[in-house]
Amino acid sequence: MKRCKLWIVAACVAVMAINVLLVHGGPQKKTSEAFRREFTKDFQRTGLNTTPGDAMMLRILVESAGAKRGVEVGSASGFGAINMGIGFERTGGHLYTLEIDPQRVQECRDNLKAVGLENTVTCIEGDALKTLPTLEGEFDFIFIDALKSDYLKYFKILEPKLKPGAVVVADNVIRSARAMQDFLDFIQNSPDYDTVIIRASMEKKDGMSISYKIR
Ligand SMILES: C[S@@+](CC[C@H](N)C(=O)[O-])C[C@H]1O[C@@H](n2cnc3c(N)ncnc32)[C@H](O)[C@@H]1O
Repeated sequence: MKRCKLWIVAACVAVMAINVLLVHGGPQKKTSEAFRREFTKDFQRTGLNTTPGDAMMLRILVESAGAKRGVEVGSASGFGAINMGIGFERTGGHLYTLEIDPQRVQECRDNLKAVGLENTVTCIEGDALKTLPTLEGEFDFIFIDALKSDYLKYFKILEPKLKPGAVVVADNVIRSARAMQDFLDFIQNSPDYDTVIIRASMEKKDGMSISYKIR
C-alpha cells in the first residue's frame, strides 16, 4: 500500500514537471533563437524604438566588429538593446544601456529578462550626462540615441574610453541633423574617424551615422 502511494506521488510529480516544460518551454526556451525571433517580431514598439531594420544593422555591426564592450545612450523599452544584446552574447561581450526614465528602465529590464539577456546587457538608470562618466574601462562600440542636441556631449564623455577600431553609431542623423549639427560636424571632419550615413530602414525615413575610429 505504502509503495503504491509512493508510485502515485512520483507519477504526479512527473506529470507536473512535463506540464511546466510544455507550458513554459523549459529553462532553455527563452534563450532559443526561435523564441527570440518571435519576441522581437511581436515586440510592442513605440515611436521611440529603433526600427527592426536599424536594430538588425546594429546587431550585424556588433557581430562583424567582434565588439566586446558597448554602450547604448537611450534605451527606451530595450528594442535596440535586445538586438545588440544578441550580438554581444555571440561575441562574448557586454552592453551597458543608459536610460533617464525609470519606467522605461523597468520595461527594458523586463524585456531583457524575458529573452534571457539580463546577464549580457546591464541597464543603468539616470541622466547619461551623469552616468556615462561613471562607466569604467574601454569601449569598442557605442550607439547614441538619446537627446539629439546632446549627442556631442555624450560622445565627448565617451571618446577618451574608445579603443582604436571602435564603431560609433548615432541615430536620427538625417531628420534631426540640425539639432546635432555640432556632433555631425565633429565626427565627419575628424581625421580620426571614417564616417558614412546610411539608411537601413525606410520606416522612419531617417538614418544613422556609422563611424570607425582609425586611431
Ligand atoms: C529614441 S529613444 C531610444 C530608443 C532605443 N535606443 C531603441 O533602440 O529602442 C530615446 C531615449 O533616450 C532617453 N533619454 C533622453 N535623454 C536622456 C538622458 N539625458 N540620459 C539617458 N536617457 C535619455 C529617453 O527617455 C528615451 O527613452
